[in-house]
Amino acid sequence: MSILVTGGAGYIGSHTVRALESRGQEVVVLDSLEKGHRQAVPNSPLVEGDLGDASLLDTVFRDFSVNAVVHFAAHSLVGESVKRPDIYFKNNVGCLFTLLDTMRNHSVDRLVFSSTAAVYGEPKEIPIPECHPKTPENPYGESKLFAETILRRHSEAFGLRYIALRYFNAAGADPAGGIGEDHTPESHLIPLVLQTLLGQRPHIEIFGTDYPTPDGTCIRDYVHVNDLSDAHILSLDALSAGAPSTAYNLGNGRGFSVREVIHAAEKVTQQTVPVLSGQRRPGDPAILVASSEKIQEELRWKPKFPDLAAIIETAWDWHRSHPNGFRSQEAKHGKGGPRS
Ligand code: UFG
Repeated sequence: MSILVTGGAGYIGSHTVRALESRGQEVVVLDSLEKGHRQAVPNSPLVEGDLGDASLLDTVFRDFSVNAVVHFAAHSLVGESVKRPDIYFKNNVGCLFTLLDTMRNHSVDRLVFSSTAAVYGEPKEIPIPECHPKTPENPYGESKLFAETILRRHSEAFGLRYIALRYFNAAGADPAGGIGEDHTPESHLIPLVLQTLLGQRPHIEIFGTDYPTPDGTCIRDYVHVNDLSDAHILSLDALSAGAPSTAYNLGNGRGFSVREVIHAAEKVTQQTVPVLSGQRRPGDPAILVASSEKIQEELRWKPKFPDLAAIIETAWDWHRSHPNGFRSQEAKHGKGGPRS
């Protein structure tokens, strides 16, 4: 019996695959490798393909005796989603039906779903609880909210049992090494700051210094990628034990401004980051901080990396040891790397 991890060659996916493997769990990864990296999942079988390919999914479920699914595969950039809503709705919503139909055909009823803080839109209270109104401000957040609705309706009608995990700002890398954050192009704050410190970028631009926050820059809740993967394992266990379908926020409950993140990175690395003040990035709420009390109480989730400096340290180790991400291996073997 295997757990299917869609998008398992991506950033959070590959950390979760590793966590599952370390429990002795059999895993099969389905990834288009459009954004993911074959090198990120060296130990489990990786099927390269598209989530919308019903016959491929059917084969994977049959050949690997899939009995539960962790579903990461998605497009996940807010700015891109505004320019290409078609891709976001087709991939994040349309392909979900292929997955759910296949699960039903194979009598698989457990699903852990990657959701996002972007389902809330501009917060009306901080920290944000799960019951907060959901008024997403971009197609990405909207696509994830539609997906959550579809899951809820499938759960009521067909007995699907799912847990949706709403990530705040994923960051860091597994301290065991070998995997980390590698997006092309990179758009996230912490990797951009660290790439600047490695001399790969001339400066970091702060997107907006006139927000209604103490230092004028946006505040976010950074959560370690291993703490996210732990939450997926706890969710799978809870579903196996008969837990009902629900959604949980995942954050540390502490917000850091863009300037505070830059200062924390300077402290960790003992270097100075060249900084430019720029315009606001459209679609960025001023403050996003999670209340994760619900998952802490119900699933006993406890972040192992509650401290921002510790999160940045693990990211720094990854970026220093892999200044080109997974690319050096890809140069040798092509983007997919060596085939198994
Ligand atoms: N930022 C900068 N300069 C940069 C990059 C980012 O100032 O070069 C700022 C952003 O404006 C934001 C903060 O740093 O205030 C964090 O930005 P990221 O791009 O790292 O992360 P986001 O908060 O935009 O995105 C995260 C998740 C998304 C999710 C979103 C919800 O990565 O998947 O939160 O708003 F949709």
